[in-house]
Amino acid sequence: MAGKLIVLDIGCGNGAQTIQLTRHIDGTILAVDNHQPFLDELQQRAEAEGVSDKVQLYLKDMCELELAEGSFDLIWSEGALYNMGFSKGLAVCRSLLVSGGLLAASELTWLRPDPPTECRQFFDNEYPSMVDIDTNLATIKSSGYHVVGHFTLPESAWWDSYYNPLEKRLQSFRKKYVTNPERIERIDSVQMEIDIYRKYSSYYGYVFFLMQHNQL
Ligand SMILES: C[S@@+](CC[C@H](N)C(=O)[O-])C[C@H]1O[C@@H](n2cnc3c(N)ncnc32)[C@H](O)[C@@H]1O
Repeated sequence: MAGKLIVLDIGCGNGAQTIQLTRHIDGTILAVDNHQPFLDELQQRAEAEGVSDKVQLYLKDMCELELAEGSFDLIWSEGALYNMGFSKGLAVCRSLLVSGGLLAASELTWLRPDPPTECRQFFDNEYPSMVDIDTNLATIKSSGYHVVGHFTLPESAWWDSYYNPLEKRLQSFRKKYVTNPERIERIDSVQMEIDIYRKYSSYYGYVFFLMQHNQL
């Protein structure tokens, strides 16, 4: 890959990883999300970091991307491809990559075959299509990629920047919305997700897969 890289960040959120990417690549990143407030925040962050010339924002549903096929050197998608389904996400990304281009994507994955009933039932409801690492690797290969590598995100990645601050906010929301049963129900369901992770974090996790577009 010579020259400036053309990068796509699918489901970029408020862009924590987009900003990091700008520091490591010589090129531009098209950051896609369907939630405008996240894109606004990313814009502000990019300006504050002096990298706004490297970031372009695109408010769009990832299932309906209107982008030219074979036009990206690298596609990044952290914790987001599940919104269209991992298999479909792999196919969409493959069509958008140049031949030999790279895809880096994380996917919620079973890490052990024997989750306790409470954990299994929670995900039967929340993410029934979750599979194990080997099944994801097989899907990746049959979708026209060579697997460059994969690793499981450490538990600290869930706690330090996500669940710990979220749990603190839930406590303050619980006080704020004490008279609002709908909000309290929502708070309870987020708290349950955190409690499930606290109990069963060895059974599932985010696995980061690095893949290279292969000729089928
Ligand atoms: C779990 S967040 C991950 C955000 C970011 N990649 C990160 O790791 O911090 C999933 C993101 O996907 C976005 N999203 C959900 N459904 C989407 C869709 N259909 N099209 C585009 N973005 C979507 C959400 O707005 C959210 O920003």
